[in-house]
Amino acid sequence: MKQLLKKLTETFGPSGYEDAVRNLILKEVKPLADEVRVDALGNLIVRKKPSAGAKPALGKVEANPRKIMLAAHMDEIGVIVSHVDKKGFARFTSVGGTFGRYTLGARVRFLNGVTGVVGYDRLEQIDNWLPINKMFIDVGATSKENCPVKIGDIAAFERTFIEMGDRLVAKSLDDRAGVVVLIETLRALKPTPNDLYFVFTTQEEVGTRGAGAAAFGINPDIGIAVDVTPTGDTPSSLKMVMELGMGPCVKFRDVGMISDPRVVDWMIKAAEKAKIPYQREVLLLGSTDAREIQISRAGVMTGALSIPVRYVHSASEMVDINDLKNSVKLLMAMLSKPAVF
Ligand code: CO
Ligand code: ZN
Repeated sequence: MKQLLKKLTETFGPSGYEDAVRNLILKEVKPLADEVRVDALGNLIVRKKPSAGAKPALGKVEANPRKIMLAAHMDEIGVIVSHVDKKGFARFTSVGGTFGRYTLGARVRFLNGVTGVVGYDRLEQIDNWLPINKMFIDVGATSKENCPVKIGDIAAFERTFIEMGDRLVAKSLDDRAGVVVLIETLRALKPTPNDLYFVFTTQEEVGTRGAGAAAFGINPDIGIAVDVTPTGDTPSSLKMVMELGMGPCVKFRDVGMISDPRVVDWMIKAAEKAKIPYQREVLLLGSTDAREIQISRAGVMTGALSIPVRYVHSASEMVDINDLKNSVKLLMAMLSKPAVF
């Protein structure tokens, strides 16, 4: 899992430009799937059909097998060039939730391979608040003419994957950690009584755009997003219980949704029965693809499994490998039995 996560996080895929990430995932999932397709928005939809002879869930014959959509987003936050000045400095704006405090001094890599560093207009003006419209990308050019990037070129943070014991640090663990959990779940899953759609979505960071289109196309009975959640376990952090290494989080609420209590119940019962550690999540900021799935078409019973991550949306996000392993275990416990409710 670590090797695959290293490859996934070192691949570049800012919102709308997920191709390289999708190709990498495709290689892993193709031998494991019954059907694979890519929709117009670039979502990768991987189906695992219910195994022949799977027993329908008791009392719910008419509704079985349940169509379950699992979603993890392929895209990551980034920046996009909006102007190049006479000296070849590129001004930019954010693609998704790129924070100034994490952007200043960062290295970025453009899809065309060009790298740059982010500078700031006048360093003595620096305060707590660092607006990115006072920043520029220096790609080593000396003029507009020899600047290797142009308006509309998109980039993401450049940073390699490192291991610190059980703690793994990389860019784009939001949400390649979710991607690796879905791939490993698909790999580990024996025959399933459910009709499963593993969806690797696009454009989550710019407003959960891919997931909505994918959910409309699939029309699932149940939706589960697998994404990251910020923790409350660093000095003076927000009062939230989510902690690294304490297990996957069962989402109750975030800014975009209230999880369906039936899905929450399903997740918690599965965790308790299989003795998998889990945490209860009330997230005070942000949302996930689950929001979009929940309100697609006539509505979908939806919940979310979150992986605790420190320093979300920085180039050095941190996870605990045990949380990834336990997330796979929890999904296995849920999906290997008929979903009954
Ligand atoms: Co994010
Ligand atoms: Zn995310």
